[in-house]
Amino acid sequence: MLDKVKELHQEIEQYTINSPEQLEQFRMRFISRKGVITELFEGLKSVPPTDRRAVGQELNGLKNFAQERFESFSQQVEEQQAATKNVAPVDLTLPTIPNLTGTQHPLTLVRQRIIQIFERIGFNVADGPEIESDWYNFGALNFPENHPARDMQDTFFVEKASMDTDVSSDMLLRTHTSNVQIRLMERQKLPIRSIMPGRVYRNETISARAHCIFHQVEGLYIDRNVGFKDLKDTLYHFVKEMFEPGTRIRFRPSYFPFTEPSAEIDISCQICGGKGCNICKHTGWVEIAGSGMVDPQVIANCGIDPEEYTGFAFGMGIERITQLKYVVNDLRLYTENDVRFLRQFEGL
Ligand code: DAH
Repeated sequence: MLDKVKELHQEIEQYTINSPEQLEQFRMRFISRKGVITELFEGLKSVPPTDRRAVGQELNGLKNFAQERFESFSQQVEEQQAATKNVAPVDLTLPTIPNLTGTQHPLTLVRQRIIQIFERIGFNVADGPEIESDWYNFGALNFPENHPARDMQDTFFVEKASMDTDVSSDMLLRTHTSNVQIRLMERQKLPIRSIMPGRVYRNETISARAHCIFHQVEGLYIDRNVGFKDLKDTLYHFVKEMFEPGTRIRFRPSYFPFTEPSAEIDISCQICGGKGCNICKHTGWVEIAGSGMVDPQVIANCGIDPEEYTGFAFGMGIERITQLKYVVNDLRLYTENDVRFLRQFEGL
């Protein structure tokens, strides 16, 4: 029996293991209840009682030795396996990886807020083309050809009018959303009470203050007996809903070819509260929109009788309103897709 123990001890000592299968063979032979060591323990009964204690000790020693080797072999196999898979063993106690969802773009947030404010007072949302004819972008809005008002809105021309191609008016990227006013007045049943958000283009050198792509929201209200008071009430309401309580508003006489009279709308600077800063050029006021009573000629250009119908219109820049609401001082941030900027609007 002792010889057998010695023999098995040697066998275990020389054992090497390189795979889970070999580990299992080792377990079956030395550790399991059907293994050789258990078998020897069973043979202990037939050892003379005087020797039993000594032999038993030897057997226990062998059993412990086999168990130790088995544990170190197990660990070795586990490490080998992890290394070949090239992954760390799974740690189920680690925190989960957060699921990063996207955020809405600040311009989208502000556009939606503008729409919400006007929808609640009965305006619907309308849309028009970004590639537009000279007539809808300029002509119908009372910008005569060669009129200096066109200089303020240089743009990208896509196609020249020509007899050969059947294009009767130059095609261009629209410089404002005012083109949609004309399309609505031509097509829609009166009265019209709509806002028209969209992208517009100008031939500008890109800087912190100017961009060749930006966004506007146009507003148009045409009905019998619409007056300047309605324009003021509507925009007062908008400013009150959109900006901080206590924001002041003023109408400043201005000129647009398609409105008469025309006014620019200023609000007290949201950044400095009207004290004067870089954003308001130290005047305490910032312009947020152009507006006016729709020129009777423009109404007539769309086949509506200006003796019977009147209306007001306004157009505001979404970037400007976003700048004032969230203190965004560089227009380029809106189109750079830098997540450090975009993430700041998370949860709004
Ligand atoms: N379209 C003008 C611009 O982009 C803004 C504007 C002024 C729109 C007066 C209007 C308006 O509807 O009535 O500069």
